[in-house]
Amino acid sequence: MVKVLFVCLGNICRSPMAEFVMKHLVKQAGLEKQISISSAATSTEAVGCDIHRGTKDKLFEHGIKFEKRRAVQMKKDDYEKYDLIVGMDSSNIRNILAITGGDSEGKVRMLLEYAGEKGAIADPWYTGNFAQTYDDVVRGCRYLLEYIKENML
Ligand code: 4NP
Repeated sequence: MVKVLFVCLGNICRSPMAEFVMKHLVKQAGLEKQISISSAATSTEAVGCDIHRGTKDKLFEHGIKFEKRRAVQMKKDDYEKYDLIVGMDSSNIRNILAITGGDSEGKVRMLLEYAGEKGAIADPWYTGNFAQTYDDVVRGCRYLLEYIKENML
């Protein structure tokens, strides 16, 4: 089982969007028994909160199933629990490394790196642009799934 953890600052906008988009793609590919997906925050800002309305609207609009959930903060021992820890921007990566105490096994990457891009998934909490974030998340997740299929299954 390949275990993927998506991580953003609050765990209410971007990482839950990536979680449910990736679950959708994994289900379409018939790989539910081989890939498990979760998400978490680097901060405690929104711990306990459900997914942001803007993210829910985008998922609903694209027919992607999601569940009511509560934001959680990533913990140090998540480094051992997951095979891939996927941040949304470079600030997430710095904060992830501060929590894990480094990346000795090379598990930590930004989502768009899998698409061969250096850019970040912009934070719609600040930009208000959930459509842009959705497009970028879908592109990143498609490439991430290809990466897992080619290298980890
Ligand atoms: P996210 O967006 O990291 O994509 O979930 C944010 C959500 C909440 C906050 C910041 C960013 N906040 O400060 O509460």
